[in-house]
Amino acid sequence: MIEMTNITKVYQMGEKKVEALRGVNLSIKEAEFVSIMGPSGSGKSTFLAIMGCLDIPTDGEYLFDKRKVSLLSDDELSHLRNEKIGFVFQAFHLLPRMSSLENVELPLVYKGIHKDERRERAKDCLTKVGLGDRIDHSPSELSGGEQQRTAIARALVNSPRLILADEPTGNLDSKSAEEIMEILSNLNQEERITVVVVTHNPLVAEKTKKVYHLRDGRFDEGF
Ligand SMILES: Nc1ncnc2c1ncn2[C@@H]1O[C@H](COP(=O)(O)OP(=O)(O)OP(=O)(O)O)[C@@H](O)[C@H]1O
Ligand SMILES: [Mg+2]
Repeated sequence: MIEMTNITKVYQMGEKKVEALRGVNLSIKEAEFVSIMGPSGSGKSTFLAIMGCLDIPTDGEYLFDKRKVSLLSDDELSHLRNEKIGFVFQAFHLLPRMSSLENVELPLVYKGIHKDERRERAKDCLTKVGLGDRIDHSPSELSGGEQQRTAIARALVNSPRLILADEPTGNLDSKSAEEIMEILSNLNQEERITVVVVTHNPLVAEKTKKVYHLRDGRFDEGF
């Protein structure tokens, strides 16, 4: 599904260059469940943003479903992001004045899907993450773990094949963190969704089936 070869990312800061990624290689097959670990500043978020086609590498090749991402048009890129990839972030990014249901419906509103179908699909996704009885709650009326579960439901509503999660448990206590990893694991096993989790927490990484270690913009030897 994903093949990245010699990916580099250099940020130009005036005169100075920051080499965030220095030649990273990674292949991920359909239905894999992997984590990318590494200390702060090692390039994890940069790498995940490139994988999610939110950012472009300075150099290197990225193939998604055997197609060169660098050759895709803007329309093809947004189609790829919207239809195939679901994003989950550390800070849940829910809209505060909306209920869980409305937050999860939002990606479908942008697509112009009819209200009844929107409701039904959003409810299904909230039920999948165990929030069938919280659909009318706004984010401030939900626990942190429940907010993250709502964000996962929102990521699921377009039936993605890939979920990219950047420190999804970073703002949560250990019990909620475990629940989130359980949900991601179930989605991987039952729906065969490919899941990539970025974390600096070894207890989170050990829930995945494969762990890659980033250090100073490179994977550790052996990977
Ligand atoms: N937009 C940017 N412009 C310049 N430098 C950046 C930018 N984004 C990230 N960097 C630098 O690139 C390096 C990698 O950053 P990145 O955010 O990928 O790290 P990370 O592994 O996700 O860290 P954390 O665990 O703290 O989230 C860091 O040294 C950072 O300062
Ligand atoms: Mg980061």
